[in-house]
Amino acid sequence: MILVTGGAGFIGSNFVLQWCAHHEEPILNLDALTYAGNLANLHSLQGTTHHHFVQGDICDASLLAKLFDEHRPRAVIHFAAESHVDRSITGPEAFVQTNVMGTFRLLEAARTHWSSLTGQEKEGFRFLHVSTDEVYGTLAPNDPAFTETTPYAPNSPYSASKAASDHLVRSYFHTYGMPVLTTNCSNNYGPFHFPEKLIPLMIVNALAGKPLPVYGDGQQIRDWLYVEDHCSGIRRVLEAGTTGETYNIGGWNEKANIDIVRTVCGLLDEMAPASARNVTNQKTGAPVEHYAELITYVTDRPGHDRRYAIDARKIERELGWKPAETFDTGIRKTVAWYLANQEWVQGVMDGSYRDWVAKQYGANEA
Ligand code: NAD
Ligand code: TYD
Repeated sequence: MILVTGGAGFIGSNFVLQWCAHHEEPILNLDALTYAGNLANLHSLQGTTHHHFVQGDICDASLLAKLFDEHRPRAVIHFAAESHVDRSITGPEAFVQTNVMGTFRLLEAARTHWSSLTGQEKEGFRFLHVSTDEVYGTLAPNDPAFTETTPYAPNSPYSASKAASDHLVRSYFHTYGMPVLTTNCSNNYGPFHFPEKLIPLMIVNALAGKPLPVYGDGQQIRDWLYVEDHCSGIRRVLEAGTTGETYNIGGWNEKANIDIVRTVCGLLDEMAPASARNVTNQKTGAPVEHYAELITYVTDRPGHDRRYAIDARKIERELGWKPAETFDTGIRKTVAWYLANQEWVQGVMDGSYRDWVAKQYGANEA
């Protein structure tokens, strides 16, 4: 089986669903269920025998040792992390704890397990670390996109903690020969994205007539990839990546934040017109005609990186991976998903998904 960490979060749950749809091999899903973890994302797997969930912390060395001993995974796919830049600014410690210490503990447990293997089992073992393009820092408008050899220059506690974890992973290859792989991906969007992040926040706020907060001048650029494309890239790297190597994953979709927000507003105007839903501007009480009326420029994020862009030629050239979605198709699917899954949104917003977890799974393991 494979061990996935953070498989109840946004990307992890999309990965688990995609894996179960394409593979017979079982998954052991270890997730602490922080505010960002949501077992409702995996609701459709109910009754399947090849998804096993364990609630637990990647910092818990004895739990990790027990899981590796009992389940003897042939690979680890490591998603678990604190992932929100704004939260890392207000409370950086949790980022150091989970992203650095947690990754270290997981590496140690994996190393003990891997050292006990022999022959093909040992050779075939993989530790795939899921990381971000934010470790490379910020780009000027005309700089070339990040490649795998761009020097690290993280600017937020989030990206600094991810950079530290990348370095630890790298060192386990060079020092111990452990077969690791690292992926650095650009901004994801799609189903199950927690509404603290830009795209889902804009959808949720617009439908509620709340302000759409755009930081600074809204001209910061991010490179957007549909989450299922990220997951297919990870599966491809796991299958065919060269150990010790890093692979950038991206979809060549650089967009300014304000353009993203306007695109989302335009799609909502088309698919869920404000007039038909009687949306009122919560600040003024006036009826909303077009969602873009709700756009509100707010104070910029401290240390806000201006531009990210991924050069994804290596994974395409060496592993033949390409995204299936364009930004136009992916964002349309995403808006449609949020409109069709208002109950999920409500569950996340009012915390009732935690009750669902207790009811559905009872104790720690399911
Ligand atoms: P997320 O915040 O939605 O999910 C993180 C998951 O990890 C949650 O389910 C949470 O409960 C779990 N978790 C947190 N701390 C844990 C701990 N100590 N032990 C066990 N589980 C813990 O994050 P995401 O957006 O799904 O990101 C997943 C990974 O992908 C992260 O490593 C992130 O750095 C990376 N990444 C994210 C993006 C993006 O755009 N979201 C882009 C590139 C890379
Ligand atoms: P975010 O989704 O937090 O991802 P990241 O910071 O990891 O790139 O933010 C994406 C971009 O959107 C980033 O430039 C910050 C900006 N942003 C806003 O303008 N307003 C918001 O309310 C949020 C959450 C983000």
